[in-house]
Amino acid sequence: MTASTGADLDELLVLATDIAREAGELIRSARAAGVEVAETKSSATDIVTAADQASEALIKRRILAARPDDGILGEEGSDQDGTTGVRWIVDPIDGTVNYAHGLAQYAVSIGVEVDGEPAVGVVLSPAQDVEYTGVVGRGAWRNGVPIRAAEPVPLERALVGTGFSYQRDLRVSQARTFSALLPQIADVRRFGSCALDLCAVAEGTLDAYVEEGIGGAWDYAAGRVIAHEAGARVEVLTGVFGRILVVAAPTPSYAGFRALVGSCGFVREREQAAPERG
Ligand code: IPD
Ligand code: CA
Ligand code: CA
Repeated sequence: MTASTGADLDELLVLATDIAREAGELIRSARAAGVEVAETKSSATDIVTAADQASEALIKRRILAARPDDGILGEEGSDQDGTTGVRWIVDPIDGTVNYAHGLAQYAVSIGVEVDGEPAVGVVLSPAQDVEYTGVVGRGAWRNGVPIRAAEPVPLERALVGTGFSYQRDLRVSQARTFSALLPQIADVRRFGSCALDLCAVAEGTLDAYVEEGIGGAWDYAAGRVIAHEAGARVEVLTGVFGRILVVAAPTPSYAGFRALVGSCGFVREREQAAPERG
């Protein structure tokens, strides 16, 4: 990841943080009033709530009010090119299933790319009052305090975050790769938010993360800046089932973890440029 030039990253961070806080407040108060499922996507369990839509609308409105010529990609339909080289990649609620079930592990995720390179990330967990931020070349923070990825541990002691697809056929296949992985690590955690999983790698509460079949770039755009700046490596690959595969681990242990997930059959080894949508 290289430092971007030509845009004021501090300014982008302040704006991204302000907007994430506003969206976080919106979804937290909407949750208190109850959950309205607005639609489903890839399967009956892949739900979109009215709060997902309202959050994305707020984020888009706020970005365009401040920076009308930037590009935006959002999970709930925003997709417009800009002319400034700055593009915002937004997941208005990452962890919607948790949100709907009353679990705290959900977040607003706002990543900013400059000239196609990841530059700024904000992942805000309103129910936990936690805000992760990262700026390329400058660092990563949790509630303003610098964070670092975990010290390397042997693979058999690694606690690994992951996720399973909303689609049954992909889950059947995921069970195969997991049956190869599970005996070789300490355990897995499935918290339900890719953005927060990457932040967990960033702050060292997870030793690594691997997931195939996440929805799109909005899931990892912010978290990967934060993890990278905290001393982790994050790769976006094509998984064995042809879907987006995200692999992350502290940089010193990345090669070992990447080799392990490769040997367990997670990676489509010959074709590694991943699609932007899952
Ligand atoms: C999902 C979460 C989940 C991951 C899925 C994502 P959503 O995002 O990040 O942890 O396993 O692949 O699609 O649907 O809650 O925005
Ligand atoms: Ca998501
Ligand atoms: Ca989402």
